[in-house]
Amino acid sequence: MGGNLLGPIHVSAPEPSNPSRIERDPPEKATRRPARPPGSHDLSRYPAVYDAAFSWDRSQEARSYLQVAATRIGRKPRSAVELACGTGPLARLWGSWGLESYGMDRSPTFLSRARELGRGTIPESHWRLGDLRTFRLPRRVDLAVVPLDGIGYLVEEGEFLSFFRAARRSLLTGGVLAVDVTLHEEQAPPLPIRNSWAVRLRPKGRLRIDWRSVGRPWGSPPRQWEVAKCSVRIPGRSTQLFWDAHPHSVLSARRLGHLAEEAGGFRGMEVYSEAAHRPRGRMFQPTASGTHPVGPRLICWQRD
Ligand SMILES: C[S@@+](CC[C@H](N)C(=O)[O-])C[C@H]1O[C@@H](n2cnc3c(N)ncnc32)[C@H](O)[C@@H]1O
Repeated sequence: MGGNLLGPIHVSAPEPSNPSRIERDPPEKATRRPARPPGSHDLSRYPAVYDAAFSWDRSQEARSYLQVAATRIGRKPRSAVELACGTGPLARLWGSWGLESYGMDRSPTFLSRARELGRGTIPESHWRLGDLRTFRLPRRVDLAVVPLDGIGYLVEEGEFLSFFRAARRSLLTGGVLAVDVTLHEEQAPPLPIRNSWAVRLRPKGRLRIDWRSVGRPWGSPPRQWEVAKCSVRIPGRSTQLFWDAHPHSVLSARRLGHLAEEAGGFRGMEVYSEAAHRPRGRMFQPTASGTHPVGPRLICWQRD
């Protein structure tokens, strides 16, 4: 894909809209994988396209995680890891701000792009190939973050338990685990995920991305297909289509809290009023315990 990027024209976080349209009583049988559009490429093999699609300024998001950690730890975090980092946008920002910064992902393709982009900011050995369920870092850190609904890639209860245990192992005592996740109502149809935005490409071109949940949820904990469709139009070339589909977990705050409790080793869960990835300038604060938050939220836990 040619050209550098100017930035997004419009970006929106997933917002609840008319969940009553979705049927109740999720079936136990898996919904069939959505069909790949003919001629499309596998988005998960094109980190440059992914980067272009997510090329807005991530600094407010990166700072939010540091603020939350500083509040819990009582000082600024000195080290951090971005988990399921892809090409490592947050790890790179933290590194450029002087933190000892790491990134972990299961995709060698994305990690090699992360190494390239992080050259001069992050030592090559800090980009770690691993899995959310089993990863280990060379040193423990103050802050571990899974941005942009990344923990939704875990779907089975056992996967969540393994993830919380791996995250605990990677943290210093008192360290903070923080995630951005879309919370759903308990025992109710999931909020539909509908997100579309466009990015201008330099010198000329346009990328459009459409990210949505598809079909009915199934299983326990419930999960649902999420489909990303990305078209790249560069004048004089034929349009290229990139596509990916994953089962994505559909979790309520209560269920996530129980999973962390069962894994053990963390103090109570704190839910914020917004996600770290939120519209610029919008304030966020911890919400009162006992509420039933729904929608995109930052959630954190402190290691015992
Ligand atoms: C939505 S991208 C997020 C990338 C980046 N953190 C960001 O905020 O732009 C999701 C990334 O999660 C990674 N991933 C998915 N499941 C994973 C797992 N079980 N373990 C490690 N990485 C995983 C994928 O390889 C992909 O790079």
